[in-house]
Amino acid sequence: MSNLMEERVLSVHHWTDRLFSFTTTRDTGFRFRNGEFTMIGIKVDGKPLLRAYSVVSPNHEDTLEFFSIKVPDGPLTSRLQHLKVGDPIIVGRKATGTLVIDNLRDGENLYLLGTGTGLAPFLSIIRDPETYARFDKVVLVHGCREVQELAYGDLITEDLPAHEFLGEEIGGKLIYYPTVTRETFRNRGRVTDLIESGKLFEDIGLPPLDRARDRVMLCGSPQMMVDLRAMLEQRGFEEGNHGEAGDFVLEKAFAER
Ligand code: A2P
Repeated sequence: MSNLMEERVLSVHHWTDRLFSFTTTRDTGFRFRNGEFTMIGIKVDGKPLLRAYSVVSPNHEDTLEFFSIKVPDGPLTSRLQHLKVGDPIIVGRKATGTLVIDNLRDGENLYLLGTGTGLAPFLSIIRDPETYARFDKVVLVHGCREVQELAYGDLITEDLPAHEFLGEEIGGKLIYYPTVTRETFRNRGRVTDLIESGKLFEDIGLPPLDRARDRVMLCGSPQMMVDLRAMLEQRGFEEGNHGEAGDFVLEKAFAER
C-alpha cells in the first residue's frame, strides 16, 4: 500500500495575497490526532513534491482542510496557490506531531499561542471535545502583522459558539485573543510582549502564566518559538514530547520560505 493518497480539492479560499486555505476529500482510512501534521503536495514532472502541513479540520470531519502561505518563488506554494476545485492533491497517509493534548500534563487553562499559519493545528484542537473535557479554559492567541491576516476569526467567534454539539462548551470555555503588530487593532503587540507585560492576562481576566495551573502549546515562526520557550522555561515549565507529557509543547509552523 502506498504511503501517499490522491485526494481532490473541494474548495479554495484566499484570505490575502499571502494566505489561503483549501479543503480536500479524505480517505476513510486516514487517521490523525487533532493537532498533527501530514505531508501534502502535488506531482511536479511526475514526482511528488511534498511539504508538512498541519491539519486544520478536526478528525471527526469527513473532509480535510489546510492553511497555507503563498511564497512567490516557493517550489510548492507557488504552484499550490493556483489550486482549483477538482484538482488532484497528494496527502500522506501517516500523520504525526507533538502538538497533541496527550503530550500535556493535566492543568486548568490551556494556552494555544500561534503566529501566522501557526494557527493551523489549533483550529483542529479547539474543535476537539476532548480539549474541553481536559481543560477549564482554552485561550487561543493568534498574532499577525495585519488585521486581514487574522484568518478564521469568524469561524472562531461566530460559527463555533453556534455549533450544534460543541457550541455550549466552546461558548463557556474558549477565549480568542487576536493581536496585530503592524496596524491599528483592538489588541496590539507581539505575544511575547503581551505575556511579559501582563497585558494579555489583564485583557482576558486570567492570572499570569503559572506552571502549577497552565499548559501551553506553541506554533509559529522559529524566533517566536525560541523566545517563548525561553520565557516558559524561566517560569519553570517543562517541555513535553511523545515519551513524556510536559507543561508545554511546540512545533514550528511549516512555512515554505
Ligand atoms: P512583527 O510584526 O513585530 O515581526 P510573520 O508574518 O513574520 O511570520 O509574523 C507573524 C507575527 O509574529 C507578526 O505579528 C510578528 O510580529 C510576530 N513575531 C515575529 N517574531 C516574533 C517573536 N520572536 N516573538 C513574538 N512574535 C513574533
